[in-house]
Amino acid sequence: MRDMVNDIERVLVSKEEIAEMVKRLGKQISDDYRGQPLVVLGVLKGGFVFMADLVRAIDTPLELDFIAVSSYGASTKSSGVVQLRKDSDIPLTGKHVLIVEDIIDSGLTLTYLKEMLEARNPLSVKIATAFDKPERRKVPLHVDYSGIVIPDEYVVGYGLDYDSEMRNIPDLCVLKRSVYEK
Ligand code: PRP
Repeated sequence: MRDMVNDIERVLVSKEEIAEMVKRLGKQISDDYRGQPLVVLGVLKGGFVFMADLVRAIDTPLELDFIAVSSYGASTKSSGVVQLRKDSDIPLTGKHVLIVEDIIDSGLTLTYLKEMLEARNPLSVKIATAFDKPERRKVPLHVDYSGIVIPDEYVVGYGLDYDSEMRNIPDLCVLKRSVYEK
C-alpha cells in the first residue's frame, strides 16, 4: 500500500491553483458552446476528478458520459495501440463533443479517441485536459483547452495514480523517485 505523505516529494500544482484553472476553463468552455448542443465525455479512470470539477464550472446545458480506454500493457503504451474498454451510447450526430482528460503525455490516446469519435458525425470534437506534458509528445495533437503545462515528472493526485493508488490526493504532486525506481 502506498504512503500518501511519505511517498510524495512535493506539491507541483496546489488544489487552489487547480481550482483557478478549472474556473478559467469552465468560463471559456461556457462562452464557446453557449446555445449549442454539447456532450462532455470524461476519460476514465484518471479523468474523473477533473470531469466532476469542470462540468460544475460550465454554466450551459450539457449531456455527459464516461469512456474508458487502456493501452495494451506497459511495453505497448508507446505503440499507440489503444483498447476501448467502455464506450458511450449517447448519439453524437448534430452535437459538439468535448473530451475531458486528466493528462496528455504522448498524445496517442487522444489521437485514437478523437478519430474514433469523429467517425460518429458530431459537429465537432475538442479536447480539454487538466495537465499537459508537451515535452513527451510522440504525435502532434491540438489541445483546445489546456489547463496547466507541467514538466516531465512522475505526478500523482487529482485523478492520477501510481500503482492504482493516490488518485484521491487533492493536489498534483511529484512522486519520490525512490518509489518508482525500486
Ligand atoms: C493516462 C491519461 C490518458 C493517457 C495519456 O491514462 O488519463 O488517458 O494516459 O497518455 P498518452 O498521451 O501517452 O496517450 P492511463 O493509461 O494512465 O489510465 P488511467 O486514466 O485509467 O490511470
